[in-house]
Amino acid sequence: MTDATLYREHLEILDGYLQRALEEARDHGVELKGVLFHSGREVEYHADDHPVNFKPTPHFRRWVPVEGPEHVVLARPGQRPRVVVVRPQDYWYDPSPIPESYWQGEVDVTEVGGFDQVAAELGNLTWVAYVGDSPAAAGELGVPPHLIEPAALMYPLDWYRAYKTDHEVALVRDACEDAARAHLAARDAFLEGASEYQIHERYLEAAGELEKETPFFPISALDEKCSVLHYQFKRGREAAPGTVLLMDAGAATDGYASDLTRTWARHDADPVFHQLLAGVDAFQRKLVAGVRPGASYVELHLEAHRHVARLLAEAGIFKVSAEEAYERGLTRPFFPHGLGHHLGIQVHDVGGRQTSSSGGTTAPPEGHPYLRTTRPIEPGHLLTIEPGIYFIPMLLEPLRSGSDASAVEWGLVDRLVSCGGIRIEDDVLCTAGEPRDLSRDLLPGPRG
Ligand code: GLY
Ligand code: MN
Ligand code: MN
Repeated sequence: MTDATLYREHLEILDGYLQRALEEARDHGVELKGVLFHSGREVEYHADDHPVNFKPTPHFRRWVPVEGPEHVVLARPGQRPRVVVVRPQDYWYDPSPIPESYWQGEVDVTEVGGFDQVAAELGNLTWVAYVGDSPAAAGELGVPPHLIEPAALMYPLDWYRAYKTDHEVALVRDACEDAARAHLAARDAFLEGASEYQIHERYLEAAGELEKETPFFPISALDEKCSVLHYQFKRGREAAPGTVLLMDAGAATDGYASDLTRTWARHDADPVFHQLLAGVDAFQRKLVAGVRPGASYVELHLEAHRHVARLLAEAGIFKVSAEEAYERGLTRPFFPHGLGHHLGIQVHDVGGRQTSSSGGTTAPPEGHPYLRTTRPIEPGHLLTIEPGIYFIPMLLEPLRSGSDASAVEWGLVDRLVSCGGIRIEDDVLCTAGEPRDLSRDLLPGPRG
């Protein structure tokens, strides 16, 4: 877990990023003395009085681990951050103070009863940009429209989010611990014959989180539903017990996410599926070892496709050589998502395709539109490595009816459709030396 020392160092590093971001903004004609990060404004469902589950603005979260709407951080280079906590008197909702933790002693915190008191609390906000989701709130603070998330500021702020501090790594590691424990409980529930719904419940209980506190809606898919990449339902006893479980779920610590996937198969699952499962787990380890400074994430992604080609050829699913299958693009329907993404405050963290701190985007290679990460890997980057192999009828049909149909052993494919698919996902930190897998020692793969 983190502590006041790590948090203090984190703030010093953020101050350096802030200075550089303001210099870059100035170079692009946007003169600023500071940035006001707003946790955001709550919204209600249409024609209702129930609030939508609230998540603070990610850039706000990077400064302070405060939940809830309307709080602000005023960050100015070389100065202690000023935090204004908005705590309305209320009896519908619990207005208890925020518990004391490692962070309060490192910033200047004041408390007000409503957002209308924030401007008076902070004084002169000229030359300050607003970062948050509410132009109305920016207006109430007197920030002019052209200083609401100006692109010249957001590019560098997003870019520097990719460099995780030790404090941030400690929080993600803590989130990995909670998620790993919960994944093991989910696996046990699956082996006992539980339904998707029950596995989901067991996961949450072991993670110690409410569903709305997890960083994304956990995926617990049995059998053919393992092929739905972001399967959003939970079936009951009518679809249990399963032969295969694909569990893709994380946990959150102070707003930082873990994102882990394991696929488990009962011993009586199809032996070819077991062979593929062991193979994906083995080559995932090789890809994790490639998370090194200067390495190309795009190349790692293409390397994953070469591994998929080899495995499918070895299993007899491709009737052509692995090299030929790869060259002809035959692996794409079997592995139709990107190798992974930056991870942090957001599960799919910002800046993965950004070309430099002053903007621009690097598109993924042709034929790989869902690859979220194209920037070269650097120390401090925290990335998921999550290859997979799936049997997705919607993607297989064009292959079956196209000119490459004879390259595939369809009898075997049809046998495996009921197993759905495989994904193995770990959270990996690039360091100056060996990569550090933040999850593997906590959560073994399907081979043990
Ligand atoms: N859980 C979503 C993903 O792995 O990207
Ligand atoms: Mn995931
Ligand atoms: Mn992921």
